Amino acid sequence: MSEELRWVTEQLRQSSRESARLEAELIVAHILQKARHELYAHAQELVTPAEHTQICALVERRCQGEPLQYLLGYTEFHGCYLRLTPAVLIPRPETEELVELILARYSNPPADVLDLGTGSGAISIALARAWPQSSFVAVDISVEALALARENAVRNGVAERIRFVWSDWFSAISGKFDLVVSNPPYVRTEYLERAPRELHYEPKAALDGGPEGLDALALIIQESPTYLHAGGALYLEIGSDQGRSVRALLQRTRAFTEIEIYRDLAGYERFARAVRATRCLS
Ligand SMILES: C[S@@+](CC[C@H](N)C(=O)[O-])C[C@H]1O[C@@H](n2cnc3c(N)ncnc32)[C@H](O)[C@@H]1O
Repeated sequence: MSEELRWVTEQLRQSSRESARLEAELIVAHILQKARHELYAHAQELVTPAEHTQICALVERRCQGEPLQYLLGYTEFHGCYLRLTPAVLIPRPETEELVELILARYSNPPADVLDLGTGSGAISIALARAWPQSSFVAVDISVEALALARENAVRNGVAERIRFVWSDWFSAISGKFDLVVSNPPYVRTEYLERAPRELHYEPKAALDGGPEGLDALALIIQESPTYLHAGGALYLEIGSDQGRSVRALLQRTRAFTEIEIYRDLAGYERFARAVRATRCLS
């Protein structure tokens, strides 16, 4: 097995994979159905020809640029195991930061949460695990995403508190919430067209935010005051160059106070927060 690991690492290194050794371990462990650390305890064991063929197939796809998470069929998000398919966006570390930002702001968890564009269910599931008393509505326009998100919620033991709803943003939503959160598509269409190959494996509907990347953000900002209780908060993940535009959009509604833009760990403006005012601001 150690020979196999060396070979896979070398193949990945030659196609300039930065974390070649780690990726090699994950691929080999996946095919051998072992935990990564077990590979070393079994280092002297041989890989069967059938296993080698399966490993080669994954290495080939990885060298073509297919994201590792789709090859493995899962990822870890904020301590949750999430099954993934190309029907959903691969949850990013920045979105884990968004979850952290939200958790840090609430000493009393909100009762009702709306997650717009839930994808794999990442945000709702992570928040639901941290807030056992809260109820969630998780929306997506992709039927496949909703099915996968529901499966992930079951796997993480929070399915009974998350209602998964097919909806074009707010179109099928009624009632009011204490927290509305969204990581919507916010990439400029033009950027997507010349983006690195790996991005093309992810669903376009999860990434494409229109000419300025602001189409979904503008709609969510415009509509969310109707669905928030006074004092309720809107949290958004945004593009690194969208802070000013998003602040202006939030101000223009005259429905929000405490508008704040936060930076991510890399130092980029990445998150927006605003609180629903009690009445329209003059
Ligand atoms: C950037 S992904 C975020 C997925 C997940 N929340 C995460 O953070 O990993 C955006 C999600 O919005 C969904 N979406 C796109 N357009 C939508 C619409 N009109 N109504 C509802 N959801 C939509 C996509 O299907 C996708 O799952």
